[in-house]
Amino acid sequence: MARSYDLVLFGATGFTGGLTAEYLAAHAPAGVRWALAGRDAAKLAAVRDRLGRNDVGLLRADATDAASLREVAEATRVVASTVGPYVRYGEPLVAACAAAGTHYTDLTGEPRFVDEMYLRHHDTATRTGARIVHACGFDSIPADLGAYFTVKQLPEGVPLRVEAFLRANGRPSAGTVHSLVGAVADAAPARRAHRERRRREGTAPGRRIRAGGPLPRTHPLRAWPVPMPTLDPQIVARSAAALDRYGPDFRYGQYFALPSLLAAAGVVAGAGALAAAVQLEPLRERIPSRWTSGSGPSEEQREQGWLSLRCTGVGGGQGVLTEVYSDRDPGYTTTAIVLGEATLCLALDDLPDTAGQVTTAAAMGDRLIDRLDSAGLTFRVLARRTGVRD
Ligand SMILES: NC(=O)c1ccc[n+]([C@@H]2O[C@H](COP(=O)([O-])OP(=O)(O)OC[C@H]3O[C@@H](n4cnc5c(N)ncnc54)[C@H](OP(=O)(O)O)[C@@H]3O)[C@@H](O)[C@H]2O)c1
Repeated sequence: MARSYDLVLFGATGFTGGLTAEYLAAHAPAGVRWALAGRDAAKLAAVRDRLGRNDVGLLRADATDAASLREVAEATRVVASTVGPYVRYGEPLVAACAAAGTHYTDLTGEPRFVDEMYLRHHDTATRTGARIVHACGFDSIPADLGAYFTVKQLPEGVPLRVEAFLRANGRPSAGTVHSLVGAVADAAPARRAHRERRRREGTAPGRRIRAGGPLPRTHPLRAWPVPMPTLDPQIVARSAAALDRYGPDFRYGQYFALPSLLAAAGVVAGAGALAAAVQLEPLRERIPSRWTSGSGPSEEQREQGWLSLRCTGVGGGQGVLTEVYSDRDPGYTTTAIVLGEATLCLALDDLPDTAGQVTTAAAMGDRLIDRLDSAGLTFRVLARRTGVRD
């Protein structure tokens, strides 16, 4: 189908969108036709001026105006959206992309949004050929591709167990705080959407896939593991359901690897306090109101950032220890790189034949790992063992 653009970035006037626009300006190959979309023409023009790229198009679109989003979706082959919180703003664009057969990437870490988009738009996207790929940032690319990379080091056709341990240093942006508070406050509708999705989606025939678990069986680091109740394990489980390579019985667990018992207790207590606070209406409003849209960690703060996700994989008598690593801030600098590369990958690469709501591993797998490895998120094997008991 003839389209004016290869890709459009929706949300470039925000903090993470601005970093993603800078990444694309520096790394999109010559000849790629791309545009910035947003609701404020003057702000969009200012971003384009900052990039010094007159060849980049500008499109007016508002997340609350379905017709404007339809025009964006019909003008391009891929849309990347950094307009969140996604539960509040995201659905009309997903609907427009699914209807237009346009591939889509975003940065959501909100499980409710992903499940509701599956329930409402997966069938349409499957029919039109659109790949709807959520969570193309710090959530959930390191985990999804880290697990995929680890699985590929192990024998085929046997039960596999992967456990992932995250260490990271970074600070949040305003958009992240707003989305986090919304996601924690949204627990009940999120559970309902998840139950409905499980009922509709069913299980992978003849295979067993489990994600979660209170404690790991392996301990590759001197650290205190705390289970991560984020979107990541659900995304990894969906990749396992989509790809036979994860074997007949796949089990995944993901943990923060914290340096001390005190730090572990602090994280658990902090998460509990946030969950309790956002149940109270005044606090739910007050906590995020101190964070202004467009703000986030400074360049100096981002320079201190890094992330390491170590995965142990066991199966068929073999064991492997892998690492996904970035020496840059995880939430924003690394996120802009991985969102930019995932979007370029969908726009330009020869990919497996998938459609509908799909994960990064199922939609882009090896091609995206190659791209990220060259761009600064590295994937490597640290150790292998044989004669390991499953
Ligand atoms: N999971 C991850 O790894 C990860 C990492 C980073 C960010 N994120 C997520 O990404 C999202 C953005 O974060 P951020 O810090 O970049 O937020 P931000 O700075 O507040 O940016 C929000 C963007 O949304 C736009 N927007 C808001 N309402 C709109 C509307 N009605 N129509 C069109 N555009 C609208 C804003 O445009 P204006 O400039 O016109 O206001 C701005 O461009 C958040 O949901 C955050 O959680 C996730």
